[in-house]
Amino acid sequence: MSVWLLCALLSSLVCQTEQDGHTLSINEVNVYAETDTPDYGTWVLNVEWRDEFSENNESREVSYEVQVYYTEQMLSVHNETVHVTPDNTTHHHWKWTSPIPLQCTSHSVKLRRRDQDHTGEWTPLYTYKGQDLNASKLVVYPREHVFMVGSNITFCCIFKTVPLPGSKFEIFISNRTYITKPVHYPTPSKESYDTFCDDKGGGSTGSSVFIGYPPDDQNLACMTRDLSSVECHWNRGRNTFLGLDKETIYTLNGGVCDVKSSDFGKCVLPAVPKQVTNWTLIAKNPLGVKTLTDTADPTHRVWLRAPSKVSHTAYARNVTLLWSWNVKKYTLFPMICQVKWMLNGSSYNETFNGLGLSSVVLVDLQPVANYTVQVRCGSDEHFYRWSDWSEITEFSTKEDIPEALDVWIQYFEQNAYVLWKPLTQQQSHGRITEYNLTRGQRREIIDKTQLCYKITPGNERSDQKITVSAKNSAGLSPPSTIIVPGYPDNEVDISRINNRNGGLEMAWDRYFNSTCGYVVEWFPTYNERQCAVEWKKISECDHAARCTWEQQDGFEPGVKYSVSVYSCIDDKPMLLQRSEGYAIEQRPSGTVQKLRGKQNGRNLELSWDEVPLHQQNGFIKGYMVTTFHYDSKTPIHRSWTEGPTIILTLDPGSYIFNVSALTSGGAGDNATLRMDIEDNIERMIVATVVGCSATALVFSIITVLCYRKRKWLKQLLYPDIPEPKLAGKWNSKGFYCPQMTEGYMKCEIQEVHNAERAATAESLHGLDLIRSNSTVFPAQHSYQNMYKSPVLYPPLWPCAEKLTSIVENPSYSMSIEPVDVAQIFELTLEMEDGYVPAPNCVQKNVVVKDSSGYKPQSTLPTNV
Ligand SMILES: *[C@@H]1O[C@H](CO)[C@@H](O)[C@H](O)[C@H]1NC(C)=O
Ligand SMILES: *[C@@H]1O[C@H](CO)[C@@H](O)[C@H](O)[C@H]1NC(C)=O
Ligand SMILES: *[C@@H]1O[C@H](CO)[C@@H](O)[C@H](O)[C@H]1NC(C)=O
Ligand SMILES: *[C@@H]1O[C@H](CO)[C@@H](O)[C@H](O)[C@H]1NC(C)=O
Ligand SMILES: *[C@@H]1O[C@H](CO)[C@@H](O)[C@H](O)[C@H]1NC(C)=O
Ligand SMILES: *[C@@H]1O[C@H](CO)[C@@H](O)[C@H](O)[C@H]1NC(C)=O
Ligand SMILES: *[C@@H]1O[C@H](CO)[C@@H](O)[C@H](O)[C@H]1NC(C)=O
Ligand SMILES: *[C@@H]1O[C@H](CO)[C@@H](O)[C@H](O)[C@H]1NC(C)=O
Ligand SMILES: *[C@@H]1O[C@H](CO)[C@@H](O)[C@H](O)[C@H]1NC(C)=O
Ligand SMILES: *[C@@H]1O[C@H](CO)[C@@H](O)[C@H](O)[C@H]1NC(C)=O
Ligand SMILES: *[C@@H]1O[C@H](CO)[C@@H](O)[C@H](O)[C@H]1NC(C)=O
Repeated sequence: MSVWLLCALLSSLVCQTEQDGHTLSINEVNVYAETDTPDYGTWVLNVEWRDEFSENNESREVSYEVQVYYTEQMLSVHNETVHVTPDNTTHHHWKWTSPIPLQCTSHSVKLRRRDQDHTGEWTPLYTYKGQDLNASKLVVYPREHVFMVGSNITFCCIFKTVPLPGSKFEIFISNRTYITKPVHYPTPSKESYDTFCDDKGGGSTGSSVFIGYPPDDQNLACMTRDLSSVECHWNRGRNTFLGLDKETIYTLNGGVCDVKSSDFGKCVLPAVPKQVTNWTLIAKNPLGVKTLTDTADPTHRVWLRAPSKVSHTAYARNVTLLWSWNVKKYTLFPMICQVKWMLNGSSYNETFNGLGLSSVVLVDLQPVANYTVQVRCGSDEHFYRWSDWSEITEFSTKEDIPEALDVWIQYFEQNAYVLWKPLTQQQSHGRITEYNLTRGQRREIIDKTQLCYKITPGNERSDQKITVSAKNSAGLSPPSTIIVPGYPDNEVDISRINNRNGGLEMAWDRYFNSTCGYVVEWFPTYNERQCAVEWKKISECDHAARCTWEQQDGFEPGVKYSVSVYSCIDDKPMLLQRSEGYAIEQRPSGTVQKLRGKQNGRNLELSWDEVPLHQQNGFIKGYMVTTFHYDSKTPIHRSWTEGPTIILTLDPGSYIFNVSALTSGGAGDNATLRMDIEDNIERMIVATVVGCSATALVFSIITVLCYRKRKWLKQLLYPDIPEPKLAGKWNSKGFYCPQMTEGYMKCEIQEVHNAERAATAESLHGLDLIRSNSTVFPAQHSYQNMYKSPVLYPPLWPCAEKLTSIVENPSYSMSIEPVDVAQIFELTLEMEDGYVPAPNCVQKNVVVKDSSGYKPQSTLPTNV
């Protein structure tokens, strides 16, 4: 078996050698280098040949083996099998790129044909001659050549002798030629990279190579700017790092372009074709070529130049902008222009169009404002892109008449004032020079710093119509009118106001007679100052039937505010509602006043006056009374009371009492009282018993003696002695009073009157309760307002004083028999001659005063 195999192998070998004799068909072999840069380095070796044999073997697969040598030393450099496509060609061309420039040494090529069955004979060697054969001096290849970044370059040097020891040229390839290892160039060269070759014989030479990139231009866009030529623009992309004669050369549609800028290319073609046009830009440098194309109708590619010399004519609320065009052809060109203006950092814009647009009007501007404006335009028919913005132009608008003033009234002490809010910069539309106030026939000029005007009352205290305007250089603001009622409107209940999140809020029912909205007014209840109320006008209710007001800022903690809601009816305010309250409650800053105690057996009645109003800092909820033994720090008793009095039952001893008032903001400071509770009950009993016994004994003796001597005595003193009836009744009444539960109240009422009848809110507390049962009497409202309303108007006082005294009188009768308060007021009304409503009461009192000349101290306005 193995013998048979060997035999077969041998026979095949014999067969091959037989055929070799017939296969040498390759002729017309030509070996040459690319001739582009013949002297500085060339790497591509071309081998061409004809092979007649292939004509007959069209269908068969044919290949050629090619071997390349360095001729002198016959060093094998490259082997390759070249497959040729089976067609009818007989001419073949093979290219090989050498790792070293072909100039370095001679290269020889031989080849042979090979097909499925046959391998041809090797051709003779065909040689491309190197420069080492005849170079007369030291020379390095490659030189003055351009390479791509990242290339590996092998240099060769042709010596006359041999390289200096340690030279980079270390690899021997021929008698005169040495080469380097491949040198890697990862970065582009700014100038060039240099390599030197030194001969042992003293010769020296060098080579410069340039490392860069091929062209990388992008985004070719062609357009017209002046409507008479086409400009093409493109982005030059990555820097090639190649300078001088190696930089990129551009041609646009065949014409050379001179490109200066490093970032953007621009090339101009005369004439604007009125049709779709192809533009082809070819960018070429030693490392490559890039072709860019753009196709468009240039009339759809209009990029206008920026408008120039923008000028303006400004008024208060509009401005006319004018600009000019440097390009003649623009005058009839349909364009769209965008105007952008800035005010205080906000930007606005508007577009306009027209033929050769060169002026626009901006309206709805703010008066007295500094504007900056810019314009840009584009084609209106075939919009392509906006021109650049024109240069920034500044203009200032003129003054315009101010906005209407926000006017309000205040009654303070004995006067009425008209107040208005200063206009903000946005509202004043210029510099306010003065205010113009009209009152009936009188006109007054008020200084610009003043925001308040005192109404000196006329002879009759009727309503006064006041009109105020602000004035600036443009003129007077629309007039703001307010009708100042002759008397302040105080006839409403005062309720507590809601506080929320440190602010105050009010709600009221919609008042359908209101014609000019509502006004909410507020000020510190105990610290109202002249011309210093705050107000807010509410033109419309926020709900269908209910209106609300809320104010968060500007309230001080612990300060009580009075908030009033007025309806505005034909410029005249009408009080709808009034409330008082604290935006933020705090602990009382003052203590209770006049803390005192009264011992009654083992009961001690502590009482005090309330914390001064302005120190309450919140609504007083009650009082904490803490009892200590004198000398002890631990409280023995702690009690809570809502009213300013408490009864404590204590053993005899020495005590300290602390009383502090509480609000929702906390407890105030303590008022302290020291008191001794005397052990007087037994002593009193003993003293009483002993005293009574002694007295009884003396009386008995006297009685006995008197009885015995009664006739003598009668004769001596007086003929008739009356019975001592009174003594017995006084005693019985005095002892009953404290024991009766109902009677106790009577006694207390009497005491209150005897002690202090101070007209404070606290002492009116009882009356408040009564009033709620009998709201039918308007006189009570007026009475109520006297104490609770912070807006007090003098003529009310005498009437109120009368009412006060009237109220006091019936309260004495209450100690005899409890009387309903409604009855008290009936009584009051009778005494006032059946005269009912409070407002009239006021008027009536004024009249009485005027006629009688009666002047209740300083309560009347000075002018009366
Ligand atoms: C090419 O082939 C020959 C013989 O087949 C061999 O001696 C030589 O080393 C080869 N050369 C290269 C570069 O592979
Ligand atoms: C050889 O090819 C050429 C075109 O490649 C063709 O015109 C010609 O007819 C072909 N000749 C033969 C003999 O097939
Ligand atoms: C050059 O040589 C480096 C290694 O030295 C290799 O990473 C790189 O791919 C080579 N570059 C080229 C273009 O052959
Ligand atoms: C190369 O040098 C050797 C010895 O120096 C010499 O024998 C040979 O002829 C030289 N070859 C050529 C082509 O000059
Ligand atoms: C532009 O070039 C495209 C192909 O590149 C061609 O089809 C077209 O006809 C050309 N148009 C003009 C106006 O030359
Ligand atoms: C611009 O304002 C002035 C003065 O207010 C006025 O006379 C003029 O009519 C206004 N122009 C336009 C276009 O509104
Ligand atoms: C123009 O105003 C519109 C809105 O009114 C805005 O969206 C746009 O960005 C503005 N344009 C410029 C250039 O300011
Ligand atoms: C407008 O500019 C002028 C100065 O050019 C300046 O005096 C004035 O205060 C500015 N007005 C506004 C409203 O900013
Ligand atoms: C004040 O305003 C009135 C109109 O409200 C006007 O008739 C009067 O002339 C103004 N007075 C001055 C000094 O401007
Ligand atoms: C509203 O006005 C009408 C007529 O002026 C009057 O009759 C009516 O009482 C007013 N309503 C209120 C709630 O004051
Ligand atoms: C008031 O006295 C009571 C009892 O001594 C004490 O607990 C409380 O802290 C005192 N209040 C103040 C504000 O000192």
